Amino acid sequence: MLFPEGVAIDGISGEVTPSTDRYTKKLSELSGLFHDAAAFDKVVAEGGDPIAYEVVDYRKQECDICFGTTIMMPGQVGGEYFMTRGHFHERKDCGEGYYTQSGEGLLLLESREGEVRTVEMKPGICAFIPPEWAHRSINTGSEKLVFVWFCATDAGHDYGTIRERGMRKLVVERDGRPAIIDNPNFA
Ligand code: PA5
Ligand code: NI
Repeated sequence: MLFPEGVAIDGISGEVTPSTDRYTKKLSELSGLFHDAAAFDKVVAEGGDPIAYEVVDYRKQECDICFGTTIMMPGQVGGEYFMTRGHFHERKDCGEGYYTQSGEGLLLLESREGEVRTVEMKPGICAFIPPEWAHRSINTGSEKLVFVWFCATDAGHDYGTIRERGMRKLVVERDGRPAIIDNPNFA
């Protein structure tokens, strides 16, 4: 049986207490994601393979909803900001919410039909991710980007589609600001 409880979420560190699971993605685990492969190898080698992001879960398999945080480090690879892998949900009826606690970023979304949208990520904005929209978060700031996500426990992650063909747009720094450009490698 499950019992109610209050879960503390630190909006600066992203820590979730108590949490049920967590994982860390080092930059080297994001191989193939960034446009500039040579710059990627260089940042991994010379930067000591930094952590790109961490995900902390509060998830009970017996319950239909779950939540947690994503903690994204600031950084760039060849002018492209650190980002998550990006995914569709396996369940086609499952959306998600992303409520930014600290930092600044962009949520890049792409529908199955190829429509592209972005939602600004900044404290106070809760991004609504409809079902069947791939979503990737991008830390465009110089601090950690911390957001709380909430979705169905069994929404599932389909990473393959985005891994194989990328997303239609890249988010890069141009003149000190984020710019959304076409992905020349989009297959
Ligand atoms: O469920 C979500 O959308 C998030 O928890 C993401 O999984 C998290 O931000 C990490 O991104 P990704 O799973 O695309 O690597
Ligand atoms: Ni998701």
